[in-house]
Amino acid sequence: MTIADPGRSLPEETGEITGISEHMGGTKATDQLLKMTGAAPGHRVIDMGCGTGLTATTMAKRGIDVIAVDIDSRALAMAKARSARSDTAEMISFIQADLHNLPFREETFDVAVAESALAFCDAGRVSGEANRVLKSGGTFGFNEMTYLQAPDPALKAVLRLALRASPHQEREWKVIFQKAGFTEVVGKISKISLPGQFLSHLKTHGMLAHTRALIGSLFKPGIGRAFLNPKTREMVMKFRSYVGYGLYTGRKP
Ligand SMILES: C[S@@+](CC[C@H](N)C(=O)[O-])C[C@H]1O[C@@H](n2cnc3c(N)ncnc32)[C@H](O)[C@@H]1O
Repeated sequence: MTIADPGRSLPEETGEITGISEHMGGTKATDQLLKMTGAAPGHRVIDMGCGTGLTATTMAKRGIDVIAVDIDSRALAMAKARSARSDTAEMISFIQADLHNLPFREETFDVAVAESALAFCDAGRVSGEANRVLKSGGTFGFNEMTYLQAPDPALKAVLRLALRASPHQEREWKVIFQKAGFTEVVGKISKISLPGQFLSHLKTHGMLAHTRALIGSLFKPGIGRAFLNPKTREMVMKFRSYVGYGLYTGRKP
């Protein structure tokens, strides 16, 4: 089944066209996650896999200095434009880097945040990097796609192929996190609310930009084909019963 152009995942394609980089739970989840991490003005915070910069600008608007890292130069360009529009450019440094090999010294940050990035990476290695660059006593918080039950094999394969994503169940995420050296690991699991996700998009982008983005992406052959494909629709229905999101935090001892 062809879902995206060869070599590009569906999130990459839609992100480039719409300027929307996505995580489950939208702005509500970001607010909850930031609260759980205790990120506050005066902290040095790293946003790992910042995409088009929504989480980083949310923190910067609250007076938090952020280093926002992503491997994708197009996403970073959109993130910079977003921060310029929201007058937060002075609060955020954008850096192109691979999360598996962060270009920072040990014990640099008070808080590390990652929203919907670990499932696209070697989660163990990236959590290890988060642990390395955090100060002792620092907090890692991540928002990640989480299987609500043992995954359906076909869905698992589609997520890997189309989204290049490898979610885990809550207990598996916790083990990854603990093996990376974090303690006091907690997780808060939620189901996906489609109306909630839609409202989050509207709040972030406005009705006009959102509608334009949706229509624009549906005309992109890879994405349009995916939406018209009955197998995709079947998978979307499965997705909702199998996949939610988890907000997790852990502390570096
Ligand atoms: C689904 S998007 C989420 C973006 C953003 N955190 C948000 O919530 O809107 C995943 C992001 O992770 C980035 N990413 C994936 N693998 C990466 C890696 N190895 N190093 C750095 N960034 C990576 C992608 O480029 C993309 O911008």
